Amino acid sequence: MTKELETVDPQKSFLEFFKKEKYRQRISQMAITGRESITIDFEDLFAFDQRLAERLMEKPDAFLQHASNAAYEQLGIEDSEYAQKLDKVTVRIVQLLGKEQLRKLGSKQLGKLVMIEAIVVRATPVRPMVMNAAFKCKRCGTITNVDQTGPFLRAPFECSDPTCRQKGPFEFVQDESTFIDSQDLRLQERPEDLPPGQLPRTLNVKLVGSEIVDLARPGDHVSIVGIVCAFAPSRPGIGKLRTFILHLDANSIGVLGKEPETSPPSPEEEEKILALAKDPWVHRKIMNSIAPSIYGYEHIKESIMYLLFGGVSKSLPDITIRGEMNALLIGDPGTAKSQLLQYVARIAPRGLYTSGRGTTAAGLTAAVIREKGGSMSLEAGALVLADKGIACIDEMDKMRPEDRVAIHEAMEQHTVSVAKGGIVATLNARTAILAAANPALGRYEPHRTVAENISLPVTILSRFDLIFVLRDVPNREADEKMLAHILEIHRRGSSPVEAQIEADLLRKYVSYAKAIKPVLSNAAVKHLGDFYLAMRSASEAEGSPVAITARQLESLVRIAEARARVALRKEVLAEDAEAAIAIMKRSLEEVGIDVSSYKMDIDLIMTGKPKSVRDKLHVVLSVLIAMEKETGIVEKAAFVSELESKHEIPRSETERMVGQLLREGTIYEPREGYLKKT
Ligand SMILES: Nc1ncnc2c1ncn2[C@@H]1O[C@H](COP(=O)(O)OP(=O)(O)OP(=O)(O)O)[C@@H](O)[C@H]1O
Ligand SMILES: [Mg+2]
Ligand SMILES: [Zn+2]
Repeated sequence: MTKELETVDPQKSFLEFFKKEKYRQRISQMAITGRESITIDFEDLFAFDQRLAERLMEKPDAFLQHASNAAYEQLGIEDSEYAQKLDKVTVRIVQLLGKEQLRKLGSKQLGKLVMIEAIVVRATPVRPMVMNAAFKCKRCGTITNVDQTGPFLRAPFECSDPTCRQKGPFEFVQDESTFIDSQDLRLQERPEDLPPGQLPRTLNVKLVGSEIVDLARPGDHVSIVGIVCAFAPSRPGIGKLRTFILHLDANSIGVLGKEPETSPPSPEEEEKILALAKDPWVHRKIMNSIAPSIYGYEHIKESIMYLLFGGVSKSLPDITIRGEMNALLIGDPGTAKSQLLQYVARIAPRGLYTSGRGTTAAGLTAAVIREKGGSMSLEAGALVLADKGIACIDEMDKMRPEDRVAIHEAMEQHTVSVAKGGIVATLNARTAILAAANPALGRYEPHRTVAENISLPVTILSRFDLIFVLRDVPNREADEKMLAHILEIHRRGSSPVEAQIEADLLRKYVSYAKAIKPVLSNAAVKHLGDFYLAMRSASEAEGSPVAITARQLESLVRIAEARARVALRKEVLAEDAEAAIAIMKRSLEEVGIDVSSYKMDIDLIMTGKPKSVRDKLHVVLSVLIAMEKETGIVEKAAFVSELESKHEIPRSETERMVGQLLREGTIYEPREGYLKKT
């Protein structure tokens, strides 16, 4: 600081600044909107007087006061009537030239003005905070006013009545005190700002003033300009700690758009993206670039591709239909589920990896938390934080009971509603979900239903567009290939299969494609419609309860739209519809539905209702056991006709089930044409 600088009166400089047309106008309009503050675009101040702007950032407490005095003076000139009504004008600064990273905040920034962009994870309700407290002397009844600063309510040192001057006791008088609205927020680093493999850091923010409280909800992305402060936590009976805790005193807050911020592609990258999109093999190239080190699982990588790009969400006047997809991987231990999830969280423009339990108290959805002081605050969980991104939920079967309820709404309506502890709020969770879970019994049992295999209710299962089963079944040929693949990775320390598109470009590609909103072509509509109706009528003829439902139809549309997006097409073509049908069939088959014979019955398979495969398998097995008791080993022909005549199970179906049981090893063929249980 130079001598010369101190001779310049900062308040005069600010007054000059406020005389600029833009700000004169802002000040003269304060009365119309009833505002008590004036907003300065930092850029303007910087252009007006660089030194002044820099000093403001260095010593915000003092300089905001100068600015406030100047603004009040100017208000007196512009609108003296309104000035008389207010006793001061608050100056709010927006858009500093650069933003500070939350994780870099430290003693260097203490007392400085900074701008932080982050997500709000926690918010208290708006609470009145006393600014000027009135205390009544219990001896003489005189009222003494005390301006309040700091976190604790301060009583007067002594009674202000000169004849009394007692040091208490005092009584707080609410009616005579002045209050201001305040709110506490907790900010957390955005998933996209997080260095890979790091846990997000948080920062508490204090908002004071009715104009800035209640603007942001948990899950919102905000840009906050404020002063970095520190306070010493105190230990009762010991004193204050020497290590302080940082927080931010907000000066202004703005809610940012929710689209993930990836740096836009450079012209060369854009060229690459457009060239790729024209490539007839673009889908295959992208699929092959997804987790290339993981061997096999082509259909799963294809689904991940659709999940990354997503379908188009539709908001109609009365309802909104989600565009984001949900996929579930149920699998035996050690089948690379976690690896796939972590990969997706890294590659997605806004990806978040969490375990079913969640990494915070808020779990997957949201929670009302009781803070140390006893106050309540609302905290956003993983799905809210991943709004407009992808949440990768590992071990989903282990989620908290509260989440089990709330996740229903989150997965279909894309909102999380909370009404608890005096807090009522609805948060957005427009999140695509890639979830993984282990079979309830340790390993996937193919002759049981999906619902029996996993400890998740059918109502949650039915909200997944695609479900795949990853089984770890020994198979000579596949094992050898996988073995070679994995050993090669370990030997070379890199993947034997190169990603055709590198991760960074792929992320940009996804962001780029998201701007496109493909529309179904007539051909695509016809394809999807034919498939849907065929499935519905097939089950009608069979007399089974419900075939594929409207949910699957919507899933098909989403997948087809996502596929069109991959090629940056504005139109969903027949080939997209075909691919969507193919992957849907694959998923249905994996969960045990016989697609070829059109005996598709989601409800049946998922819930295991009377006519389900499971029950038939039970019958088949019990008949076999009964016949075995009589004859020792069972003749297949007799077995088949027994089932046909006494249990009305058609020959073809018995054959299929026998095949399945043989493959599983539940029964075997001791001799050609004979069966026996193992
Ligand atoms: N198809 C595969 N290709 C390459 N590596 C694989 C494959 N399957 C499994 N692995 C390897 O096996 C290990 C275990 O994978 P991972 O931890 O992802 O399993 P998981 O399915 O999450 O198991 P769990 O259900 O027990 O959590 C990883 O090191 C992974 O790389
Ligand atoms: Mg795992
Ligand atoms: Zn007194």
